[in-house]
Amino acid sequence: MQITPATKVVGLIGHPVAHSLSPVLHNHLYQSLGLDMVYHAFDVLPDQVEAAAAGLKALGFTGFNVTVPHKEVVYNLLDWIDEEAEIVGAVNTVKIENGRLEGYNTDGQGFIQSLHASGFSVSNKKVVMLGAGGAARAIGISVSKEEPEEICIINRTFSRADRLAYLINNHKGRRIARAASVIPANTDFIINTTCLGMWPDTVGNPIQGYSLSSHMVVCDIVYNPRQTAMLKYAEKHGCRVCDGMGMLIGQGIKAVEIWLDTSLSKDSWQLMSKAAYNHK
Ligand code: ATR
Repeated sequence: MQITPATKVVGLIGHPVAHSLSPVLHNHLYQSLGLDMVYHAFDVLPDQVEAAAAGLKALGFTGFNVTVPHKEVVYNLLDWIDEEAEIVGAVNTVKIENGRLEGYNTDGQGFIQSLHASGFSVSNKKVVMLGAGGAARAIGISVSKEEPEEICIINRTFSRADRLAYLINNHKGRRIARAASVIPANTDFIINTTCLGMWPDTVGNPIQGYSLSSHMVVCDIVYNPRQTAMLKYAEKHGCRVCDGMGMLIGQGIKAVEIWLDTSLSKDSWQLMSKAAYNHK
């Protein structure tokens, strides 16, 4: 591709970012769709986030993604926040519009899109969500919009699960979520939103020891490794699984749609997915 002064520049800020797959997925998508855009990952030290955001704005970037540990700092630098991002209390995508920083959170919608792309739906289903952090808030709010029968939240710190259930119920206007200590037997979906199982500590499995039934769908948001210890365990029990790569792809596509203020073609999913599969 040819980079010219007209090329839109976007990227990722985080620390560290060396292993991020986002540049590979995004740049492959842009080239395949003929979008005059380029994506780069920037390793920004925690005390430089404000300066980096000001720099991206001054340089005319179209927008940027934000990853750990900068989500909170960036949230406090925004000029405008999308309603869903405000409910979730975190942003992962910033659009720079007329010199203003506009914050969005595409994690939840990315997760739902990955479920649909795999042929799954949580509508009218009993959902268990493991974890109650930032990712869980985004996914919990988006799952609640799909009208599940219930959302059971299990977390190491019970009070956080309780608080998230309250947030979801408050947003929904009825009691759809509750905190729990064990996975109920009649669960349809189990969604891991914690980092357990993530490289380099790949042995972590938040459902170890549970007897699973083969009708269950087990989803992980961890994508490195792609087949986590939890997903292997679920497959051994005959469950269908959904890995974390889908959410990375889904939130990436949603970010591009926000930056360009347009809907991308249906091929976008396959294009990013192919880039992810081909990447060594
Ligand atoms: P993120 O933004 O990625 O969701 P976070 O807000 O720090 O990150 O939340 C991490 C989640 O993973 C939390 O639910 C955390 O549990 P606590 O609320 O008890 O801290 C959970 N988590 C992290 N490490 C864990 C571990 N070793 N075992 C169980 N849960 C863990």
